[in-house]
Amino acid sequence: MEMKQMQSAEELFQAQSHLYSYTYHFIGSMCLKSAVHLGIPDIIHKHGQPITLNELVLALQIDPNKSGYVYRLMRFLVHSGFFVTTKIDGGKEEEEEEIMGYDLTPSSRLLLKDTVPTLSPFVQAMFHPAILHPPEFLAEWFHTNEPTPFHTAHGKSFWDYLSQNQEFNGLFNEAMISDSGMMNLVIKDCKPVFEGMSLLVDVGGGKGAVARLLSESLPHLQCIVLDLPHVVENSQDCNNLKFVGGDMFQSIPSADAILLKLVLHAYSDEDCIKVLKMCREAISSKGKEGKVIIIDIVINEKNDKRELTESKLLFDLLMMSVVTGKEREEKEWKKLFLEAGFSHYKITPIFGMRSLIEVYP
Ligand SMILES: C[S@@+](CC[C@H](N)C(=O)[O-])C[C@H]1O[C@@H](n2cnc3c(N)ncnc32)[C@H](O)[C@@H]1O
Repeated sequence: MEMKQMQSAEELFQAQSHLYSYTYHFIGSMCLKSAVHLGIPDIIHKHGQPITLNELVLALQIDPNKSGYVYRLMRFLVHSGFFVTTKIDGGKEEEEEEIMGYDLTPSSRLLLKDTVPTLSPFVQAMFHPAILHPPEFLAEWFHTNEPTPFHTAHGKSFWDYLSQNQEFNGLFNEAMISDSGMMNLVIKDCKPVFEGMSLLVDVGGGKGAVARLLSESLPHLQCIVLDLPHVVENSQDCNNLKFVGGDMFQSIPSADAILLKLVLHAYSDEDCIKVLKMCREAISSKGKEGKVIIIDIVINEKNDKRELTESKLLFDLLMMSVVTGKEREEKEWKKLFLEAGFSHYKITPIFGMRSLIEVYP
């Protein structure tokens, strides 16, 4: 009995720690935001070798009296895998204390501003108040008739906010360009997916980052980017890449294949079926050889590692907070494809969090 009580006290303390850890997750997010804002990854990169705390404080132009605070920020960011501490070479052998410096990890390398790929614009855009506020209204929103918590927070839809707010529209488009830059890592593996096609329409293709990669690596492929007029404005056509302003719910140009990257996850099942039907119509001249290529998350809790599932589930909650969309399991995708009149599909998980789904009439 006593043992049981002891165990349960231990369990409860563990539960307390779990609870507090999640309560303060937002502080962890803000530490990441601060590191990006301060440009810490670039400072370390430019330094060319691990940087000591004093050197970092100097480069940040922060009063040396505050170096203890920088140490604590960095201690957390090392703990969470954004930086590592390593011994610095070249110290005098007789020196008793080892000199330690901060170095980059693969995650903070992705935050370097001038390297490709970089996710720095993506991370920065996600800390804009447009994105930060809606999740705060989740509980309230359940009791309203508003379509999304974004409406509760900002009084309009995410898409209207984007079209009316130039600053956020710019940040969001840059975020998407940076996310799409990651495709460069696997584009050669994807070539067979695009073989034998002469015309592809990237629906909701933003500023054309993916279409540009494809048009450069497959010069015989004509690419059209279809996106909302305020997104494609000022985008220049070049060689085999063309921009069209429009609404995918109204009209999609005919093509051999349609690409939809991170588009369907932002829409409800009903809207996805509408778009998929439009896509099926757009590829109808290719008969059974036409296809729709989707790049999006497929939730797979059974097979994915816990951390990957957590990222996917957080994206799902982001979709719930800002738009009418959701992240889907395979069976949910399948239902959409069948309802839109497609006959079969193939899922290839090659983009880390995202999969490539080929859908056939
Ligand atoms: C999350 S972004 C993805 C952009 C791009 N595919 C990428 O992955 O970089 C979604 C895109 O869908 C576009 N979009 C949303 N609704 C649309 C509509 N009704 N017609 C055309 N494009 C739309 C948005 O403007 C935005 O560029």
